[in-house]
Order: sequence, then C-alpha cells, then structure tokens
Amino acid sequence: MDIKDILELKNKRKITMLTAYDYPTASLVDRAGIDIILVGDSLANVVLGLESTTQVGMAEMLHHAKAARRAVKDALLIADMPFDSYQTNPQDAVKNAKRFIEEAGVQAVKLEWFGGCPEVTKQIIDAGIPVMGHIGLTPQTADKIGGFKVQGKDAQDAQKLIDQALVLEKLGCFAVVLECVPDKISQLIAKKIKIPAIGIGAGIHCDGQVLVINDMLGLFERYTPKFVKKYAHLSETILKAVEDFKNEVIQEKFPDLKHSFMIKEEEFKKLNGS
Ligand code: KIV
Repeated sequence: MDIKDILELKNKRKITMLTAYDYPTASLVDRAGIDIILVGDSLANVVLGLESTTQVGMAEMLHHAKAARRAVKDALLIADMPFDSYQTNPQDAVKNAKRFIEEAGVQAVKLEWFGGCPEVTKQIIDAGIPVMGHIGLTPQTADKIGGFKVQGKDAQDAQKLIDQALVLEKLGCFAVVLECVPDKISQLIAKKIKIPAIGIGAGIHCDGQVLVINDMLGLFERYTPKFVKKYAHLSETILKAVEDFKNEVIQEKFPDLKHSFMIKEEEFKKLNGS
C-alpha cells in the first residue's frame, strides 16, 4: 500500500487501520491484510505502562517503528510523532519527521492537532513527507481540551473540527483521524473532505476505522474506552497458559519425553562405565 492506494480507497470501500508496536504483532496485522499500520504513541499506555502518551519520545518511537518495519510487507506503515518531537518548533518537527522516514523506514507520520499544527504540518509536507492529521480528542493535549471527552458535541465545537479537517486537507494531508467525535459530525467531515477520514470512536460513517491493537485483542486491562470492541480476550488466554506452565513444572509434568532429548543407551553406559 502507498499513499495513492489509500486515497483511492475513499468512496470505494472502508479503510482498515490498526496499531502495532513490535515485529510479531505487526507481522500478523500485515498478513491479515490491514491497509494501514500505525506505530502509535499509545505505545506509552498499552506497552510501556506509562500514564500519558506525552511520556514517550523519539528514542522509544524509533525503536518500535524499526521493529514494525522489519515485519510489514504490504500495509502502509505510519509512525506517530511523539509530543515533544513536533509541538516545540517547526524546525525540530521537520528534522524528527525525517528521522522516522530515513532511520525507521516508515512511509508517513501522524500529528495531533494543536495551536501550531498548520505551520508544522505545512513544513513537514513541504519537506516531502506525507502527513496524516488527527483531530477531535487529541490525547497529547487532552488537558487543553477538557480531558478525555467526546469533542464537537455542540455546534460551535463541531464547526471547529470541520474547519480543522478542511485546513489539514488544504495543507496536503493524505488522511485525517477523527477521535471521539459524534457520528453525524464525522459523517459531515467525511463528506466535506476528499481525503479519507479514519474514525476511532467516531461512528460508522467515516471512510475507515482504526483501533489500538492491545485494546481490540483484550490485552490491555487498565481501562477500556466505550468505542473499543474486543475481538479476542488474550489476557485471559495468556494468564491461563502461564498458570498451566507453572503448575506442570511444579507437578513435574513438564518437560515430558516429547519435549526432551535422548542419548542412546549404549553411549550412556560407556559414560557410567557399566
Ligand atoms: O496512538 C495511537 O494509537 C493513535 C490511535 C488512537 C489513532 O493515535
């Protein structure tokens, strides 16, 4: 998949997108035929056990983006720019976006909306790097938008989201994530812009859907947002497997002969001198 393929999917079929942060997971997501894989800064919460996405930086994001790159063969691979890599000044933003392309080999970067977003987005796109926007609930600056809440619930706020989507399209973004937005507002935005609107907690009318992989696999137990559907319950599966291993070791049932190596009896006898 490249940027052109993703743009062409709009109005043809829904676009699928999931996060992945490591080689085995990215490999499975890619083999399943997901269109876009995002090395999200949700890494902070669901993999590293941190409280906020603002607590990951370039070093962690590059490390995980490189692991995903080794696995992904077909999907479009995108990296989330961590908070302090682009919200400080546009020069650093361009430099850091280039690092994702050159060092990790991703095909695009994703930026969350903030006050200076248009200028930073413009400079990154001018440097030849494809950008996916992200509006609505922007976790990196949640404290500035009233917390982890649905955005665009009144006409004035909804108009702001519509305007932001139009600005991002005009600047040349190839897609925009809508997070926690009422479904009718997402529908309006998806209709108004020619680039794909990918929803997370933004209803059925978006051009595509994204979820955090650890949420949808039931592998993140700290909290579950309303918009998450669990397609598996891996925490339970893993817990049961680990308990089974523990019990079999203690009860001397593992390793059995099937999982052990043998020496021929005559060789063993030589060793014992008998
Ligand atoms: O970091 C992330 O996982 C994201 C998705 C929620 C889109 O930004």
